[in-house]
Amino acid sequence: MPLFYKINTYGCQMNVHESEKLAGLLEKMGYVQCPEGEPADVIVFNTCCIRDTAERRALGNIGVTKAEKKRNPDLIIAVVGCMPQQDGVAETIIAKYPYVDIVLGTRSISELPAEINRVLVSRERKRKKSDKRYRAVNVGMPEKYLEIDEATPTVRTSYPNAWINIIYGCNNFCSYCIVPYVRGRELSRNMNDILDEIKRSVDAGYKEITLLGQNVNSYGNDLSDGTNFAKLLHETDKIEGKFRVRFMTSHPKDLTEEVMDEMAASSKICSNLHLPIQSGSDKVLRDMNRRYDREKYLSLIEGLRKRMPDIGITTDIMVGFPTETEKDFEDTIDIVERVRFSNAFTFIYSPRKGTPAARMEQIPYAIKQERISRLIKAQNRVTKELSDEYTGGIYEVLCEDIAPKFDGMACGRTDSGRLVTFDGGRDDIGKFFNVKITASKSASLFGHKEEK
Ligand code: SAH
Ligand code: SF4
Ligand code: F3S
Repeated sequence: MPLFYKINTYGCQMNVHESEKLAGLLEKMGYVQCPEGEPADVIVFNTCCIRDTAERRALGNIGVTKAEKKRNPDLIIAVVGCMPQQDGVAETIIAKYPYVDIVLGTRSISELPAEINRVLVSRERKRKKSDKRYRAVNVGMPEKYLEIDEATPTVRTSYPNAWINIIYGCNNFCSYCIVPYVRGRELSRNMNDILDEIKRSVDAGYKEITLLGQNVNSYGNDLSDGTNFAKLLHETDKIEGKFRVRFMTSHPKDLTEEVMDEMAASSKICSNLHLPIQSGSDKVLRDMNRRYDREKYLSLIEGLRKRMPDIGITTDIMVGFPTETEKDFEDTIDIVERVRFSNAFTFIYSPRKGTPAARMEQIPYAIKQERISRLIKAQNRVTKELSDEYTGGIYEVLCEDIAPKFDGMACGRTDSGRLVTFDGGRDDIGKFFNVKITASKSASLFGHKEEK
């Protein structure tokens, strides 16, 4: 009987991808992915702490494993990723959750196999009464991101898309954000290693490459070989084969004309950009330490649309930042109406311990809730209008999956990043189709395949 592993992932695409690396490490040790309904031998929680809700969700689920551990005392429980990387949190987890065996930070996740072995050895010794229980805590912040990419097998879980990390960490210290504290300073991967990974993925049949980083536009800043994000895009475009390229996330202060030019010139790089604005108020943007203003943001949008008229632009917006007044919030609604994002991820500001904004005077929760519902309403109106514009057109769609809610249908995205549900099945996943859009419902488009 093989030993089973289960990984519970929270947070951003970076974590989703790192869970693919964790799966690779565990499979190399001989563990097999746990079938639905079976008990696991190792459970890993790959955590996020961007907002309070993300932390609470993970902690709740970690708590549930207490009963599982009672049933199976041989079970190994590991809590890894961003959450335990915060000041004092690893110690709290060890104290409050006695059934957790291993706690690893963002830069120590490749230590998982070694720590599992240590826990197993110590359990064996304890059985022979010759040792005390070993529990691993490793939340260091080494200068080097332990060689997880160059040496670790990846068990990819999102065919036809392959996530590829290009830069770790963040140097920006937006005043609300915990990421720079839990992910450390920026570290770019070597360009040839990235290009090799893209080539290998394309050769293995992946049809979409998504380059990942907290701020992909700072790629190369910490390298001394003159590489930058625009050059990486240029080299990526030269790789042979039919595949799409997307990337996230772009910080508006670092998006260059050169990058926009590469996007426009390339047939592989999608006309799609995630460009978080956070707020439409210059004052709030300043207090957030975002280092751009409305005017700069709007000029980027203009530059992008001039080069790529069909570009789909998505964003992140936060409401209820400590200094946000009603007038500031109205500026956010105004910019949503001006820019016309194809979609916006909206968040209620959540104070994060240790960040500057958490020390400012906070806004009552009821005001934040009222603002987010007005914001969602405004964005939904724009999304619907933009969706209607797709109706009647024919778009190339990469089939990504079977449609979760509709029998006999498949789903995929246009080059601009819009989700389309159309007639298709499992065999279509990973193939490109021309799809005629016949209807739309809020952010979703519906259509049918056209004969090529
Ligand atoms: N590096 C990316 C995104 C990081 S986190 C960037 O710079 O855009 C993803 C989103 O979570 C952010 O864009 C922001 O909108 C939101 N976010 C970050 N910290 C938050 C906080 N303390 N409360 C609420 N939302 C937050
Ligand atoms: Fe957080 Fe700002 Fe860095 Fe994004 S750029 S991860 S929001 S500090
Ligand atoms: Fe969360 Fe860490 Fe990503 S805090 S959003 S998992 S970088």
